[in-house]
Amino acid sequence: MIIRKNNHALSIMREAGKRLAHVFEEIPALLKARITTRDLDSFLERALKEAGLHSECKGYGVPAFPAVSCISVNDVIVHGIPSSLSLNEGDLVTVDICASYNGYCADMARSYFVGKPVSEKALELVRVAYESLDAGIDMARAGKHISDISFAVQSVVEKHGFGVIRDFAGHGIGKKMHEDPEILNYGKPGKGPLIEAGMAFAIEPMITQGDYTVRMDADKWTARTADGSLAAHVEDTVIVTDHGPEITTRL
Ligand code: MF3
Ligand code: CO
Repeated sequence: MIIRKNNHALSIMREAGKRLAHVFEEIPALLKARITTRDLDSFLERALKEAGLHSECKGYGVPAFPAVSCISVNDVIVHGIPSSLSLNEGDLVTVDICASYNGYCADMARSYFVGKPVSEKALELVRVAYESLDAGIDMARAGKHISDISFAVQSVVEKHGFGVIRDFAGHGIGKKMHEDPEILNYGKPGKGPLIEAGMAFAIEPMITQGDYTVRMDADKWTARTADGSLAAHVEDTVIVTDHGPEITTRL
């Protein structure tokens, strides 16, 4: 069941998104060679608290996710667990955080480089991830179908010769991080539920330089590309209004 939010709920979701976007503004300055992903997570834990946000990641799932942020480096696609791994010049780093404010969630991810990208193609991968996210968001309009978002994302990614991950998807969002509907990043247009005003979606393309096959680490969270190629992941939380999509997680 897709929950449509009333104006009160939507105003809290806007505030949650804005606060989370402010926390993300602090990340680029922290992405220096030799910082560990655990130190990055500790910083973010403090920043979320100061922003009045509650992490929805920490304690989520089985086994419980142990940190406030997912930090996914290079071939890690999503759900990297912060650890003693230290960042190196050229690394492609994705930070993904779902946090709530007064009971409503915002879910956001950004891909960055530590210093200069390793190659022109790595830079293009991240650029295309953002382009596909924007194309997907533009389909979050009353009267469209959910798979119009999926098709728009896939079209942009494959046009540039990159792969779209099939094993993970975007989702509805509200009081809970994951609500209906599931929003695949691939598929034919015009399928699935009809989009209506008041719905809220977390749209999150996950894309790779190579094949889209996923390999899970023994920790049951870390998802990597099976072929070791680089992966990028970007995500925004979007509210469907009468006037089109409104992104809560951009300032
Ligand atoms: N954007 C991620 C998702 O929708 C956030 C997951 S937080 C986690 O799956 F900690 F639970 F992984
Ligand atoms: Co999400």
